[in-house]
Amino acid sequence: MKYGIMSTASIAERFIRGVRENGEDEIYAIASRSLEKAEAYARDHGIPHYYGSYEQLCQNAAIDVIYIPTVNVSHCRDGLNALSYRKHVIIEKPFALSVAEAEGLFELAGDLNCFLMEAQKAVFLPVTGQLKRLLGQQIIGPLRYVDFKMSHTNHPLDHWMYQLSMGGGALYGSATYILEYLMYLFDDPLLEISGISLPSHSDTDAIAAFHLNTDRGFIVNATIATNVEFDSKVVFYGTDGNITVRNFWKGDHLDINLNGGAHSQINFPQVSEFSYEARHIHHCIAQGLKESPIMTKKRTVETIRLVDQLQRSFQKNRR
Ligand SMILES: NC(=O)c1ccc[n+]([C@@H]2O[C@H](COP(=O)([O-])OP(=O)(O)OC[C@H]3O[C@@H](n4cnc5c(N)ncnc54)[C@H](OP(=O)(O)O)[C@@H]3O)[C@@H](O)[C@H]2O)c1
Repeated sequence: MKYGIMSTASIAERFIRGVRENGEDEIYAIASRSLEKAEAYARDHGIPHYYGSYEQLCQNAAIDVIYIPTVNVSHCRDGLNALSYRKHVIIEKPFALSVAEAEGLFELAGDLNCFLMEAQKAVFLPVTGQLKRLLGQQIIGPLRYVDFKMSHTNHPLDHWMYQLSMGGGALYGSATYILEYLMYLFDDPLLEISGISLPSHSDTDAIAAFHLNTDRGFIVNATIATNVEFDSKVVFYGTDGNITVRNFWKGDHLDINLNGGAHSQINFPQVSEFSYEARHIHHCIAQGLKESPIMTKKRTVETIRLVDQLQRSFQKNRR
């Protein structure tokens, strides 16, 4: 399969590494809004074709699948455009900013018989699969509480991630990781969300803190921060112990602590955390699937509904 990469986004480099490590597909072309940027990127990353517009990338008949890591507010427009050229499409998280946008994308993909998936690499990681098994076996007893902490302070203050109109902020930036991880681990629990935010220097949320009620006997607490640093991790607390996964969206190990003091660590060495997602995409498309059986339309749309609900409450409380 030949990939076209839509934009020279920072994250594209890691996705490209994942596809190449998986070894089944080719990074065929890159497009940027600037021809000079595309050319330099293609040269630096050994990509044979480059374009100075996203449109030209979509027009290339040789390309099978387009990966879209553009600014959040453009995901829907760029996805609809790529699909209209009958490309299979992978859209970075957050897939879209409203349920209507997401449903429009899936509808067009269905009409044109194209594979469409949200990029959420965490659910494909070996450590996540092992975590799901351990929780299912109740190795820490029945689960009562889950605590997520994510700190991303890497963007300069004038970056689009600090503009709400571009889909920036802590909530849009990272809440989908948490919600889709929970949906995968617990097979689509019912989630009720409520939360508070701290404004940034601009119109975005610098900190998004939220709670989730589930129908599975446990509650979830989550904090995403863009202006303070702390260890990013998730801890699952059961009646008999806890399991920690550091940097769970790209993690390579987990720690189990049982009440009474027993501790063990399970490691999953990896080169690129994107290679598992790349393998999944390859196999879905090779089998002629239109939807991933793991990153389903249902999970993507439900996640957007929850994020949108919370974003509206943040905006209301700021007025
Ligand atoms: N799955 C993950 O682990 C992960 C991690 C980080 C980010 N992401 C997602 O990937 C996407 C990109 O994030 P990033 O951090 O890589 O962002 P970034 O470096 O700022 O890249 C965004 C790209 O979008 C393009 N773009 C189109 N319109 C733009 C505009 N008006 N202003 C600025 N750039 C514009 C630019 O490419 P050209 O100039 O080449 O056209 C730019 O390089 C986001 O949706 C983010 O949520 C996913």
